[in-house]
Amino acid sequence: MSIPQEDTFADVVSKAMRGLVVTDAMVAERAAVSQSEVVALRTGQWNDAVGRAVASVLSLNPDALSALAAGTSAPPPLAVHGLEAFSTPFDDMLVNSYVVWDPTTKCAAAFDTGADCGPMLARIEELGLSLQAVFLTHTHGDHVFDLDRLCEKTGAPAFVNALEPIDGAESFATGRAWSLGDLQVVSSLTYGHSKGGTTYHITGLEKEIAVVGDALFAGSMGGAKVDYAAALRTNREVIFSLSSATVLCPGHGPLTTVGWESIWNPFFAEH
Ligand SMILES: [Fe+2]
Repeated sequence: MSIPQEDTFADVVSKAMRGLVVTDAMVAERAAVSQSEVVALRTGQWNDAVGRAVASVLSLNPDALSALAAGTSAPPPLAVHGLEAFSTPFDDMLVNSYVVWDPTTKCAAAFDTGADCGPMLARIEELGLSLQAVFLTHTHGDHVFDLDRLCEKTGAPAFVNALEPIDGAESFATGRAWSLGDLQVVSSLTYGHSKGGTTYHITGLEKEIAVVGDALFAGSMGGAKVDYAAALRTNREVIFSLSSATVLCPGHGPLTTVGWESIWNPFFAEH
C-alpha cells in the first residue's frame, strides 16, 4: 500500500506555530522576514530562505523542512511479515488501522479500527488469524469508529489507556504489556495529541515495530491538541529511544522508521 505523507511543510509550520502559540507578527520579527512572507509560507508558498529562517525560529530542522517542501524526502517502502496496514476514508481524510500477528501461532491483534473494519475483517479471515485483542492508540472518532463492530464480529476484547477511557474497551495503566503468541506488546504514553495517546512497541517479528497513533506522522506529527511541549517530549523519550530500524505505524500517512524520522522529520531531526 502506498499512501502519501499526511502533512505538507505548510501543515508543519502551522502546527509548530499553534503549538508555540506565536502569531505571524511574532514569527516575522524573530525571523527577520515580513509578516506577509510568514503568511505565504504557512499557506503553502515555499521560499527557501524564508522557510529556513522561520524553521529556526520555530525550533524545526531547516534542512528537513526544506526537503519536505521540495518533495525530496519520503520514507522508503517498508514491509514486515506479520504486519498489515489498512487505510479507510473518514470525511475528507484517510485513517490507518493495523493488524499484527505471530506467523507461527496466528495469534493477532488489531490496532485501532479505522472508519471501516471490513477490509481488516476480510484479511483476518483470509489469513486464518485469531484476533486476541483490539488495542486503541487514542479515542478520536476516526480511530475508533468501527470498534463495536470489530469486537462483535471477532469476540476480541478492546483495550484503551486509562487516561482516555471509552465505552466498550477495558482501561489499562501505562506500561501494561501483553503476549500475543510469541510476540510481546508493551504500552507507553505518548501524550500531547490526546490525553491518553499510547504507543505500542511490538517485538518478536522480523523487525521491531511501534504503533504510534497520531503521536507521530512520517515527516510530521499529529496536532498537539492537549500539550505541544509534552507531545515533543514524550515522542523523544518513547519513540526516538527505540532502535533506528524500528518500523513506525502512524495513524495517518505511510509507514516510516525511527532512523528516517530522526533525519527527515522537521520536529525531531537534530539541529
Ligand atoms: Fe487523533
